[in-house]
Amino acid sequence: MGPVEIVVIALWFMLPAYIPNNVAVLVGGGPPIDGGRHYRGSRLLGDGKTWRGLFGGVVAGFLLALALNAIEPTATASVGFDLPRFSMTAMISLPLGALLGDIGASFIKRRLGAERGASMPGLDQLDLVVGSLGLTALFSWGWVTATINLWILLAILLITPLLHLITNWIAYLIGVKDVPW
Ligand code: CTP
Ligand code: MG
Repeated sequence: MGPVEIVVIALWFMLPAYIPNNVAVLVGGGPPIDGGRHYRGSRLLGDGKTWRGLFGGVVAGFLLALALNAIEPTATASVGFDLPRFSMTAMISLPLGALLGDIGASFIKRRLGAERGASMPGLDQLDLVVGSLGLTALFSWGWVTATINLWILLAILLITPLLHLITNWIAYLIGVKDVPW
């Protein structure tokens, strides 16, 4: 397995987990998931975690996984190695896990006294990996081990923080995000 194959499979595999955060930024707003509740003096999650963002993100990730499965045979034929096919469980657990990881990160940030939008390097970038891979491994361990190996996992851990930085800068520059992180 060469480096190109490793990186391409890592990206393909993670696309349904990457897109939910970006879609949540675009469609977010409305009632917060924590309903405005506080816990020990700070908001439970904060106004940055909304139902609309959660549902919109999961639906977008699911639809993207469906689309990737549809184009997989053509894409596999053109790259010359097997691209992943998403199981029905993974189509839901990858986007849902990514956003649950993001929600978990906000919970931790509020407990540490960080306001909404404050950056917390490390946590911000890897919450979605831990959430999406964790939830998917929990529900579909067989599919995960049959689809990725340790090299691909390593690539995911390296690529994700980079993509996160780049997409947040773009979101900031085009004005959909208030801060570039
Ligand atoms: N968003 C949302 N619902 C979610 C996740 C994100 O509506 N479940 C939207 C919110 O408008 C949020 C924006 O996407 O402000 C950016 O997401 P994120 O960076 O995760 O939230 P922050 O505002 O930075 O808040 P936090 O400090 O809690 O991460
Ligand atoms: Mg943020």
